[in-house]
Amino acid sequence: MTDLPVKGCRTIELQVMGDDRGSLIAIESATGLPFSIARAYFIFATRAGVARGFHAHRNLRQWAVCVSGACSVLVEDGGNCCTVRLDRPSLALEIGPMIWREMHDFTDDAVLLVLADKPYTPDDYIRERDAFFTMTTANSK
Ligand code: TYD
Repeated sequence: MTDLPVKGCRTIELQVMGDDRGSLIAIESATGLPFSIARAYFIFATRAGVARGFHAHRNLRQWAVCVSGACSVLVEDGGNCCTVRLDRPSLALEIGPMIWREMHDFTDDAVLLVLADKPYTPDDYIRERDAFFTMTTANSK
């Protein structure tokens, strides 16, 4: 696991179990997942030039894995920001609560799998960037 400069975010190298038939990756608590999965969704067939996300969650933990193709995920905690290129199925990105995220530069074949610790809750979203920064600044005082 590699901590990122953004709080609550890190990358995880997943173990690939390969043999002469191909490859398999398992994600569970024994392989480092720090929460129980309440929801999984995946983003695919993203059109050329489209970026997604542009929100934060008040109280949600997620792992994102680009199981096919590649995309870039920007994460920002109100102070620090970094971008991770998810370009292989063996690289997971953990995103904690109160992190602004944007997904950019999807390849045509990108399938971004997201595992989350809570069901879909529209009220958990912070979709306004200014409001996110106001909240993170208030919390850091
Ligand atoms: P949206 O949050 O806009 O996607 P992104 O942040 O990746 O740009 O979600 C797109 C649509 O899918 C929107 O109508 C909400 C719906 N949705 C669900 O019903 N369940 C989910 O778990 C998610 C993530 C989205």
